[in-house]
Amino acid sequence: MATIKDVAALAGISYTTVSHVVNNSRPVSDAVRAKVEAAIVQLAYVPSGVARSLKARTTATIGLVLPNNSNPYFAELARGIEDACERNGYCVILCNSDDDPLKQRNYLRMLQEKRIDGLVLAAVDDASPGGEWHNLTTPLVVVDREITGVAADVVCIDHTAGAYMATRHLIERGHRRLACVNGPANASVARLRQAGFDRAVAEAGLEVPARWRIESDFTAEGGYQAGLALLKAVPPTAVFAANDMLGMGLLRAAAEQGVRVPQALSVIGFDDIHMCRYVYPALTTVGQSILALGELAAEHLLHRIQGRATGRPQRHVVAPRIVLRESTAARTPMDAEQDDVSL
Ligand code: RIB
Repeated sequence: MATIKDVAALAGISYTTVSHVVNNSRPVSDAVRAKVEAAIVQLAYVPSGVARSLKARTTATIGLVLPNNSNPYFAELARGIEDACERNGYCVILCNSDDDPLKQRNYLRMLQEKRIDGLVLAAVDDASPGGEWHNLTTPLVVVDREITGVAADVVCIDHTAGAYMATRHLIERGHRRLACVNGPANASVARLRQAGFDRAVAEAGLEVPARWRIESDFTAEGGYQAGLALLKAVPPTAVFAANDMLGMGLLRAAAEQGVRVPQALSVIGFDDIHMCRYVYPALTTVGQSILALGELAAEHLLHRIQGRATGRPQRHVVAPRIVLRESTAARTPMDAEQDDVSL
């Protein structure tokens, strides 16, 4: 690969002058610039970002560690983060931790070694051993999942309020036989969403049998299996799925079992991933613009990196909203007859 010295030799111009042309750091005559540019083209010379970073002490690169970007929620979040970084001249290195604390720790070390300017982290959930955060020497923004005891800006949705709103949405449509399909109980977002569901059913004086409280894994397959388990004998008339992937799996199980959504079963999800619009029936859900959430997280980080935000960590909790589509409807009079025999 050609170096700046090769360009200088071919152009017959000093190394320093070539450097000024490449970095636009001092005016040079048009004739000199033309010679340098011709040599650059001939040698296919690309300036070294590494050399530039060493001098400038910035790599204009941020690290992004996510649990798993094959969940469209995290793919959309990453997109928002990348868009905001790109607009500001920053590049993003994406790492998937697969919810594995060891993998996450290794990525954090590797990113530090690459001298990232800052980090956005959707952390492996609570089970992860702490400690590694305290070695971070760059600004950190925590997104989606809070981490206790870490001094960092936090950007997330109000998980509990969202689950409460989703469950209220079902109760206000007359449903009494409610189920909840959630992620793993060791995940903080699952526990927060469970709390929202529990509060809404308790306020309404509803009982939810244990078999209608299903702990799953935030995947479509998990939702599908939960759906098959729920749709037996006298099933619930409405389900709160604690993310959209679970909700979509439930829609599939209902279709296979001949249970019509929303006529016989209402399903509401959480997140508002883009795909909700295209499944059939389109999934009613609760959420906020995921892209905007990602952009917000990136902006918090860039403000810290560029010294535009200083002082105590900020907590930015976004209020969710119901996104009404086709998968929820009012309970029917026939459902009402079954209510008493079902529990
Ligand atoms: O990890 C799964 C879930 O956590 C996502 O779907 C999203 O809801 C996030 O908060």
